Amino acid sequence: MLAFVLFSCVTENDTAGATVDCAAAPEVTWDGFAHGFVTTYCVSCHSVNNTDRRYGAPEGLDFDTEAGLYESGTRVRERTLVEQSMPPGGGVFADDLQLLDVYLTCQLGI
Ligand code: HEC
Repeated sequence: MLAFVLFSCVTENDTAGATVDCAAAPEVTWDGFAHGFVTTYCVSCHSVNNTDRRYGAPEGLDFDTEAGLYESGTRVRERTLVEQSMPPGGGVFADDLQLLDVYLTCQLGI
C-alpha cells in the first residue's frame, strides 16, 4: 500500500505542480494568449532585439517566440508560477497566471 502511495506521488510530479485538467480547460494558445503575455510581462528584458537594456536578464534567454519560451519552459513555470519571482517585481494578474498554467501544461506539455 505504501509503495502504491509513493508511486502515485511520483506520477503526479510529472507535471511539476500543474493543477490543470486539460480536458476541461479552455484552449490557450500562443497567438491567443502567450504571445501577449510575454509581451506584457517578459519581453521588456528577455528579447532577442534587446541587447543593451536587459536589466540583467541572461543573454540568450529570450521569449519573443514560442520556441524560446518552450526551451526554458520548466524554468518559466518555476519562476513565474511557483516562486512568482519573474517578472522581478511580480504583479502578474491571477487570471494570467491561471492561463499561463493552462498554456504550459496543455499546449507545451510542460
Ligand atoms: C525587469 C526585467 C525582467 C523582466 C520583465 C523579466 N525578467 Fe526574467 N530575468 C531577469 C533577470 C535580471 C534575470 C537573472 C536573475 C535571476 O535569475 O533572478 C532573469 C532570469 C530569468 C530566468 C532564468 C533564471 C532561472 O531561474 O532559470 C527565467 C526562466 C526568467 N527570467 C523568466 C522570466 C519570465 C517568464 C518573465 C515574464 C513573465 C520574466 N522573466 C520577466 C529580468 C527580467
